[in-house]
Amino acid sequence: METMLSGIKPTGRLTLGNYIGAIGEFIKYQDSYDMYIFIANLHAITVPIEAKELRKNTKDLIALYLAAGLDPEKVTIFLQSDVDAHAKLGWVLTCLSGFGELSRMTQFKDKSQKQESGITAGLFTYPSLMAADILLYDADYVPVGQDQTQHVELTRDLAERFNKRYSDTFRVPKPLVTKVGAKIYDLQNPEKKMSKSEANPKGTIDLLDDPAAARNKIKAAVTDSLGIVQYDPENQPGVSNLLTILSALSSEPIDSITARYEGKGYGELKKEVGDVVFDFLTELQARYNEIIKSGVVDKVLAEGAEKASRIANKKVRKVYKKVGFTI
Ligand code: TYM
Repeated sequence: METMLSGIKPTGRLTLGNYIGAIGEFIKYQDSYDMYIFIANLHAITVPIEAKELRKNTKDLIALYLAAGLDPEKVTIFLQSDVDAHAKLGWVLTCLSGFGELSRMTQFKDKSQKQESGITAGLFTYPSLMAADILLYDADYVPVGQDQTQHVELTRDLAERFNKRYSDTFRVPKPLVTKVGAKIYDLQNPEKKMSKSEANPKGTIDLLDDPAAARNKIKAAVTDSLGIVQYDPENQPGVSNLLTILSALSSEPIDSITARYEGKGYGELKKEVGDVVFDFLTELQARYNEIIKSGVVDKVLAEGAEKASRIANKKVRKVYKKVGFTI
């Protein structure tokens, strides 16, 4: 069975973009791969975050993984900080990464441009740690949204570089990007990615938003003045984004949705998308509330950490030998 690995940073409340671009994909693949899904909490402190908030986000993220349908019987779910091997291999790969290649990472450029002060060295070297996350488990595939594909490409380069310099050690992974919904856009600014760190909550649907409020956000989504329901991301980004959300949540192909909307307007489309989002969030949150109450989270993490550590420690021992740490 091939191996798949992915993770999410607990830096804020999870959005519908995280679900459609990532979590929904994990669930689709969990029966067919040996799967590792983790909470990237070492990555979360690359930007300032209060300990209390980090703790809450972490617990919510695990509960949402489970509520969305990740099955701990099939998937190894764990907390990155529980497995020391991530930081260990992260350092080795940081020392293999070029300053120039890290400077070219578009996410670093975007984030450091937005934030005027307090840009940390961790934010800069974070893609090397992400490479370690992936390479420790010999992942064949890494399901991610579009914004993370550059980091997976860097991971491939680092794996090949290490293998060449020290002999074959790492499997070279491939990014796996969903056809529908690799980038869900902000509802108020449909040229921009829907993001956990967005200050304007009107453009972002959080998975823990009140479902009625989320429906209203869809109703208020920015569209255009053309008045035709068609998929044209360049000229009609807002409408195309709504069609993507509807298609991803209902599994109806976009063509078939647009065919149903011939001669109909944006009001009707927004109503349908709003209702689908409302139902989706209502069901997800009911399961989330049960999971939070049940205390299952701690058990899942303890089991996950044990299995992940076994595999990751073995890989680090190999690496330590090859680079010359073990004498
Ligand atoms: P993060 O936490 O920013 O995002 C988690 C996942 O959600 C996807 N995503 C989206 N997909 C579609 N539309 C959007 N608007 C949207 N916003 C986010 C992201 O592409 C990602 O797949 N560096 C990673 C976390 C990470 C990781 C890893 C991932 C750390 N180590 C190893 C894979 C493998 C990150 O910051 O994702």
